[in-house]
Amino acid sequence: MIVELHRSATNYAEVVEETVKLERKLFPKHESLAKSFDEELKKKNSGLLYVDLDGQVVAYVMYSWLSSLSASITKLAVKESCRKRGHGEALLNAAIEKCRTRNIKRISLHVDPLRTPAMNLYKKLGFKIDTFIQGYYSSDRSAYRMYLDFDIE
Ligand SMILES: CC(C)(COP(=O)(O)OP(=O)(O)OC[C@H]1O[C@@H](n2cnc3c(N)ncnc32)[C@H](O)[C@@H]1OP(=O)(O)O)[C@@H](O)C(=O)NCCC(=O)NCCS
Repeated sequence: MIVELHRSATNYAEVVEETVKLERKLFPKHESLAKSFDEELKKKNSGLLYVDLDGQVVAYVMYSWLSSLSASITKLAVKESCRKRGHGEALLNAAIEKCRTRNIKRISLHVDPLRTPAMNLYKKLGFKIDTFIQGYYSSDRSAYRMYLDFDIE
């Protein structure tokens, strides 16, 4: 059910279109990657995993590698009618595994502290709060930067 989007996929354009539609619906403009989604995905250091339910994109996670040691979760979202069924957790776990196999040592992300479901999910999977960034999204919306460290062998 979780699919990794490859540029060579025959349904690449449809998946991007559906994902952008969801992104527009679920996030306010100042937090949305809708305008730059395709550009982001063209970058070699970024990837998208999505949940395909009966041929429809209902959830997605976007991530990028910042360096050989660190990665960032840039977006995670689940369609409203499909929430609380484990899709968000499954996607985040899959993205974490992708990073683990690349020998990344730290994954970081930003989240509005008011997004309780997301905060709970990140904490559940072991993310810790690093710092609070006032006005990160807009003048009246701040963020926590969170991180997950892998054990260094
Ligand atoms: C955050 C989000 C991705 C979670 O997706 P989901 O598929 O509904 O989550 P899951 O069913 O996998 O739940 C996993 C965990 O997340 C937390 N969680 C999910 N929904 C929650 C809710 N409504 N209230 C509190 N905690 C919640 C819980 O810790 C849950 O674990 P549990 O079931 O053992 O309690 C989804 O709510 C969403 O898309 N929100 C809007 C976009 C967003 O905020 N994205 C993050 C931006 S940084």
